Amino acid sequence: MDTVKPLFDDKQITARVDQLANSIATIISGDFIIVGLLKGSFMFVADLARALSRHGLTPQIEFMQVSSYGNSKESSGEVRISGETPASIAGNQVLLIDDIVDTGRTLHRTSKLLLDLGAQQVWTCCLLEKPSRREIDCTVDFIGFEVEDVFVVGYGIDYAENYRYLPYIGVVD
Ligand code: IMP
Ligand code: MG
Repeated sequence: MDTVKPLFDDKQITARVDQLANSIATIISGDFIIVGLLKGSFMFVADLARALSRHGLTPQIEFMQVSSYGNSKESSGEVRISGETPASIAGNQVLLIDDIVDTGRTLHRTSKLLLDLGAQQVWTCCLLEKPSRREIDCTVDFIGFEVEDVFVVGYGIDYAENYRYLPYIGVVD
């Protein structure tokens, strides 16, 4: 097994998720649809949705399956969208949610797709950002934590499909 060095514990994550929900509630009002990118964002979406409801927001929740990493620690550079895209995007406000923005390709590609499907507006929210790795200039409206150029796992995020179950975020050697 690899060693996982804790970076953000569950209390830090809960506190930051609540702050994010508070910021989102000052910007987005009315009906909107969360589109979470699977699988990495499943835990973040689950917690953020509950935090948003505590701040009075009532989003619909959809997911899209996207992958760029395969089983390696390096992005393939190609963003694959598998399965169906959510119905009912046209004419709606969307909050697109991913676990990490790395090069920016995934977020850029998927927000463009949602706009092509007729979204009225697309906001983007990522739990983690690696600013030093950015290659595509796309705005991320809400960011949880910035991290160095390290490979992180836990809280939904995997390395070769392992570690998603961890309640904290850690760095893999
Ligand atoms: P991007 O398209 O290069 O911005 O990569 C974003 C995607 O890469 C995220 O959805 C993650 O699934 C994955 N990713 C980027 N960095 C990491 C990491 O440190 N651990 C696990 N997955 C990562
Ligand atoms: Mg991902």
